[in-house]
Amino acid sequence: MILVWGSDPPARAVGDRLRASAEPVIQVGAADPFSVRPASDGSHGTLVVHGRSVPLNTISAAYLRPPPPGGVAPGEGRPAVLDWAETTPALVITRPAAAASNNSKPYQTGLLRGLGATVPPTLVTTDPAEALAFCRRHGRVVFKSISGVRSVTRTATTGSLRELLAQRDLTACPTQFQAYVPGPDWRVHVIGSLVLGCMVVSPADDYRYAERSGHPVSISQVAVPAGLRELCLRISAGLSLPLAGIDFRRDEAGKWLCFEANPSPVFTYYEAHTGQPLTQAVCDLLVSARPPAERVSEPGRPPRTPSPPPASVAAPVRGASPRPRRCPVRAGRALRRTVTPPPAAGG
Ligand SMILES: Nc1ncnc2c1ncn2[C@@H]1O[C@H](COP(=O)(O)OP(=O)(O)O)[C@@H](O)[C@H]1O
Ligand SMILES: [Mg+2]
Repeated sequence: MILVWGSDPPARAVGDRLRASAEPVIQVGAADPFSVRPASDGSHGTLVVHGRSVPLNTISAAYLRPPPPGGVAPGEGRPAVLDWAETTPALVITRPAAAASNNSKPYQTGLLRGLGATVPPTLVTTDPAEALAFCRRHGRVVFKSISGVRSVTRTATTGSLRELLAQRDLTACPTQFQAYVPGPDWRVHVIGSLVLGCMVVSPADDYRYAERSGHPVSISQVAVPAGLRELCLRISAGLSLPLAGIDFRRDEAGKWLCFEANPSPVFTYYEAHTGQPLTQAVCDLLVSARPPAERVSEPGRPPRTPSPPPASVAAPVRGASPRPRRCPVRAGRALRRTVTPPPAAGG
């Protein structure tokens, strides 16, 4: 049984695809009332939703995009499901503790550096003079949130930053400044051992909001160079993220500069632009998780999120059955497809 929690586009896409392929799935919508009936045997209890009762220990994999706490969902079962998600040996995309690294960008940046990524020169400050000195040193900077809340990234030069600082009280809002890296964005999705990249070209400071400034956005799939692929697999394994969306740009010297690893990326946006089979790959990963009955129990050993193996191409995901089952719908189609990057990719 696969649990899908959420109603946003990725959760809908995954739930719909699993249902279309006749996989046993239980979907908890963002606004659905649900509860967890406690068990008397010390197990995690039984999820009750839509009049169905599903013992949590029969769930082999879960795709979780719960609404924010305090949101619309009547949250009776929320803490119990999140607690289950943290500790179950099932495959969970994404365990709450693993997702938490993205709640503080400076913290995650430290982890990314430790995993071998290069991060642009960064300053987090409440001091306007320090911000201006940093900007002077780098010529052009971006500023963005330090929290997990998606920011609308903006760029500034010394002149425009000085004007902005005269209007806004930086001392009241710790802000992250980063040396501006020109060029196209690269978004790399890691899904188990699969690594798929796309390149985003837009004159907007932040391509996700390009429409607001009337700028175009073009997104195309690209082949991920071997070194970058290895780095992305290392990041997703190191952060315990079976699914990750990792953001990069490449500097003039050809070095990859990493902005962040999204622990629960909205992959449907990139799929819609490129046709990459991201939903199918997420479903394949969920389906490949070993059902609870097939797992050998290891007393005393804490459950672990199956993480992607190191760089080998066809390595099975840890915790997956030796012969992974696949969704019949578009099973395995084009998952290893790559294309030659267009010249604009910068090599
Ligand atoms: N140092 C930078 N140089 C150039 N563009 C950047 C830089 N940092 C972020 N951006 C742009 O802003 C986007 C969002 O930044 P990111 O750090 O990924 O934060 P979030 O996605 O959480 O808002 C990036 O995908 C990129 O397009
Ligand atoms: Mg980002």
